Amino acid sequence: MPGSATTGLSFQTPLIFEQGAPARHAASLRPDDLPRVDAKAVLGEMARDVPPVLPEVSEPEAFRHYVRLSQQNFAIDIGMYPLGSCTMKYNPKVNEWAARLPGFGDLHPYMPDELVQGALELMWRLERGLAEVCGMDRVSLHPAAGAQGELAGLMMIRAYHQAQGRDPKKVLIPDTAHGTNPASCALNGLRAVPFPAGEDGIVTAEAIAPFVDDDVAAVMATNPNTVGLFESHIAEIAELVHSKGGLVYGDGANLNALMGKARPGDLGIDVMQFNLHKTFTTPHGGGGPGCGPVGYKALLDPFAPVPVVEKRDGRFVLDQGSRPNSVGRLRSFQGNFGMMVRAYAYLREMGAEGLRQATELAVLNANYLRARLGELWHVPYDTTCMHEVVISDRHLKESGVTTMDVAKRLMDYGFHPPTVYFPLVVKGAMLVEPTETESLQTLDEFVEVMKTISDEAFADPDFVHAAPHSTRLRRLDETQAARKPVLRWTAPETPTEPSSASGGTAETRP
Ligand SMILES: Cc1ncc(COP(=O)(O)O)c(C=O)c1O
Repeated sequence: MPGSATTGLSFQTPLIFEQGAPARHAASLRPDDLPRVDAKAVLGEMARDVPPVLPEVSEPEAFRHYVRLSQQNFAIDIGMYPLGSCTMKYNPKVNEWAARLPGFGDLHPYMPDELVQGALELMWRLERGLAEVCGMDRVSLHPAAGAQGELAGLMMIRAYHQAQGRDPKKVLIPDTAHGTNPASCALNGLRAVPFPAGEDGIVTAEAIAPFVDDDVAAVMATNPNTVGLFESHIAEIAELVHSKGGLVYGDGANLNALMGKARPGDLGIDVMQFNLHKTFTTPHGGGGPGCGPVGYKALLDPFAPVPVVEKRDGRFVLDQGSRPNSVGRLRSFQGNFGMMVRAYAYLREMGAEGLRQATELAVLNANYLRARLGELWHVPYDTTCMHEVVISDRHLKESGVTTMDVAKRLMDYGFHPPTVYFPLVVKGAMLVEPTETESLQTLDEFVEVMKTISDEAFADPDFVHAAPHSTRLRRLDETQAARKPVLRWTAPETPTEPSSASGGTAETRP
């Protein structure tokens, strides 16, 4: 964005639209080598009378532009990304290789089943692998994200009740829940009813009992929950809700702390979503393609979204219509197939033992940080945690430095900030999720940096308030950035005269 406040020394170079010069180009074709196309004949009135104002740049300029852009963002491939609740673990590159194999990457969603047997078999196998991990009977691979998986699961629950001539409307949700839980209820015409977690951060059957009645469609519980603790009463809660005809939705976003050790299906959960981009290492961030499969018990099978991959007479088919009570289609085609390939590659690479080990290391790393950060920082739930730990800015009160300042200053030290001000039940919360893919050295470095920032907060609070100091953009107005993002470059008032759209001449060729 031209004109924005910039700092970082290496980031002052203008953006690509401000670079180059008329007739500079990156191709080695002469205009005469290109076929002449009559734009008017092809595009009719949509053809342009005036060529668009496009940057005319050399190959190095174009390449540097994109590399520079990639450097202006933080990524898991650059450093530790302890964004609690998001499981930003390393995405193995073998997954990328697998997803790009031409037999997968070049498929078209309209290809007939006979020509895509391998892809359908992969989906069929992935479904079985995920079902085994979560202890469910079946898994729909259709939803596009965790939140859409929640929506799909709640739609199935609602359809299940309606098929029995009931229409309960309440969904009980603990006050520690992720915001997508109540949103998914609202989108599905259900009412989210919050109930309190106990002092120790977990929910009990006693706490939920006063809310359980015949109007309860489901309880929605995240396990481990969003303060990083294992919900040890979930089986009792499930029994209570089932006794009133309700079902149990398990938010499976935090499965990274359970897989290979415990299965939600064995704990009384009827339906849950997987966040493949968390637990199963498919890349995420930036709103890219996602996949949020939904695992469910057999009682919900008639209502599962379509299409579903079935195996009939030794062949795989994409079944679009044998479930008349299905909640239907939630998105185009069969889902984000590339994400399924990545998750399947991860499952096969890890095997059962590898998944268990990943869980153990994720939990060990989080507890290591709990113990080490706890030497200085306030740890509200100071008990053995699962994959993430909540700390707060309480000890900084006198300095005036807050969680937000700490988060911004971490960027100067090459760490992505943790999740801030969530969970809402902890004042000044920082939710730290190291994941299993960080080494002991990196965890120690993180602890040291957090200590340094704490020292800085008392020695020079203004400096910390003003962080980050080393990024291209400084502190943004986050509300404006979210509500009115400026995503489009606009031409200067007096654009440079565009040269011929077809490129340069022999004299200007590199
Ligand atoms: C506990 C929990 N539930 C649901 C979601 C929603 O998942 P997604 O971002 O894939 O829609 C998240 C995402 O962070 C989460 O942490």
